Amino acid sequence: MKKILPLTHGLRGAIEVPGDKSISHRAIILSSLGNSSVEVTNFLAGADCLSTVACMKSLGAKIERFDGRILITGQGLHEPEDILDAGNSGTTLRLLMGLLAPQKFLTTFTGDDSLRQRPMARVIKPLSLMGASIVGRNLNRNLPITILPASKKLHGITYAMPVASAQVKSAILLAGLYADSPTTIIEPAPSRDHTEKMLAAFGARLERVGNAITIFPADKLVAPDKISVPGDISSAAYWIVLATIKSGSDVTIKNVGVNETRTGIIDVLRDMGARIELVNERTSGGELAADLKVVASKLRGVEFGGEIIPRLIDEIPALAVAAAFAEGTTIIRDVGELRVKETDRLAAIVEEFNKISPATFEATDDTLIIRGGGEKFSAECKTRADHRMAMSLSIFGAAAKGVTLDDADCVNISYPNFFDTLAGV
Ligand code: S3P
Repeated sequence: MKKILPLTHGLRGAIEVPGDKSISHRAIILSSLGNSSVEVTNFLAGADCLSTVACMKSLGAKIERFDGRILITGQGLHEPEDILDAGNSGTTLRLLMGLLAPQKFLTTFTGDDSLRQRPMARVIKPLSLMGASIVGRNLNRNLPITILPASKKLHGITYAMPVASAQVKSAILLAGLYADSPTTIIEPAPSRDHTEKMLAAFGARLERVGNAITIFPADKLVAPDKISVPGDISSAAYWIVLATIKSGSDVTIKNVGVNETRTGIIDVLRDMGARIELVNERTSGGELAADLKVVASKLRGVEFGGEIIPRLIDEIPALAVAAAFAEGTTIIRDVGELRVKETDRLAAIVEEFNKISPATFEATDDTLIIRGGGEKFSAECKTRADHRMAMSLSIFGAAAKGVTLDDADCVNISYPNFFDTLAGV
C-alpha cells in the first residue's frame, strides 16, 4: 500500500528525470553487436532495461555497471544456456525476437504474468515472412516463445505494418540487418524512431521515404565510444501534467529527450492551454534534448486522434489526468492499442480514475472520453501492476484529495525514484 497526500503547493525549482527507457534498451542491444566497448551514460537502471541487460549477458555480451554508467562490450552472440526472461518488458522481448530470428541457435523466452498475455503474432508474422521459425503458445501468439535456429539467411521483405508499433518496426529492422537483401517497412503512422537513429550512429545504412523505411543488410556495426541517454519524456510527462494542473507551479524539467516522434504530449497540452517552453535545446547522441519550463495553466478540453497517437501513446493515462482538470470534454480517438499494453489501460483508466473523479472517464473500443471539471475525492485505487497507471494515479491523487495505491512497486519498471521526486517537488 502506498498513500499519496494531496500537494499543498505548486511545483517549483528544477526536476531531473531518469534516462529514456526506449533509448536505454537500444543502447544495450546495439552496443552488444559491435566488438569495441561503449560507455552508456544516464542509462535507465529500471527493471525493464535490466531485463534487456540480463538477456544480452546470457547471449554473450560483456556488460559492467558503474555508478550511473554502463560499459558494454560485444563479443559475438551465442546460444543462451537457459530460457531468457523478458520480465514485464515488451520492448526487450519484441526487439530481441527480431535480433535472434536470424541467428543459428535456439532461444526460448518467457516473461511475467502481464507479458505472457500480450500479443506477439504482430512480430512473429513479419519475421516468419522473412523465413524465421518461431513457435509460441496459443497458436503462436503468446509466451513462452521459441525461436528455432535459422537454417539459412532470412529474406529481405517489404512489409506494411497493420499497427504503428516501434517495437514491431525495430524487430524487423534488427532482423533485416542479417537478411540477404534490403527490407522495407511501411508504417501506418510514424512511431518512435530511436532504432533508426541509433542504427545509423552504428554505421548501418537506412533510407526513409515518407512512412517507408528501408534497412540494408550490414556485415558489421561500428560502435561509437559513448552514448549519452537523454531524460525520458514519458517520465517527464507526470511532472509536466502535475505542474500544469497544480496552481502556483513554475518548474523546469532538465535534460528531456524531445525527439519529434515522442513530443505529442507537448503539442496536445499546448492545444489545451498549457504553457510549456523548450529551453536550451541541444543534440545529445543523435537525439534532441531540451529543458522544459512548465507554468500552471487553465486547461480546456480538446479532441484528437490519428497520426498523433503513436507520438504520445504512453502518455495517455497522464493526459487523461490533465483532461479531468480541464474545462469541457476531451475526446481521444484511435487508442485501441492501450488495451494491449502492460494492462488494458482503457479499462484501467475508466475503472480506477473514476474512483477519484466519478462519472468523468468513459471508453469505447478505441476511444477515451473525459468530462473535465468533475468533483474529486480521496480514493483507494488498484495499479494492476502497471507502472504508468501507478504514476498517473499518484499525480491524480496529489493534485486532488490524495490516493492510496494497492501496489506501487511497479514504478521500478521505468522510474525507480519516482516517489522520492514526488515527495520533493
Ligand atoms: C516502445 C514502443 C511502444 C511503447 C513502449 C516502448 C519502444 O510500444 O508503448 O512503451 O521502446 O519501442 P509499441 O511498439 O507496442 O507501440
